[in-house]
Amino acid sequence: MSCQCHGSTGEENEKFKVIDRIIEAHKGQEGALIPVLHQAQEVIGYLPEDVQAYIAEKLGIPLSEVYGVVSFYTLFSTEPKGKHVISVCLGTACYVKGSGNILAEFEKTLGVKVGGTTKDGMFTLEACRCLGACGLAPVLTVDGDVHGRLVTKDVAEIINKYKTGN
Ligand code: FES
Repeated sequence: MSCQCHGSTGEENEKFKVIDRIIEAHKGQEGALIPVLHQAQEVIGYLPEDVQAYIAEKLGIPLSEVYGVVSFYTLFSTEPKGKHVISVCLGTACYVKGSGNILAEFEKTLGVKVGGTTKDGMFTLEACRCLGACGLAPVLTVDGDVHGRLVTKDVAEIINKYKTGN
């Protein structure tokens, strides 16, 4: 049975072709779902419902199982992310050194709550657990790059830096 769940634009078709290739590479492997979801998200940027349904059908597993995995792991997102992803560590060492205030300052300055993306699509704000850089607490990453020993006044500077690309 072929999947009727996706659109017909060239870009959409390309998206599903990419997923086909990812699934092909994991065919017959036990526990293929998580690596397939992970790679699909890397390529597409997020995991919308039609993509989840397509993966479920192709892997021959219930859609409810795919939904369950996607909603369980914070690593997976069902919404498109911003150009830059800011992830503030709320692990114990960072929290004790004020990362909660840093996060609040980002929320205030960007005008979004944790998990949200700015209207211009520039930034997604996230919180995460220990990044393994506690010596630099409080820590955050922007697009995976670590910034440490932060104070609230660094927030505006970081936003500016990524906004202007300098
Ligand atoms: S608690 Fe933040 S890096 Fe470890």
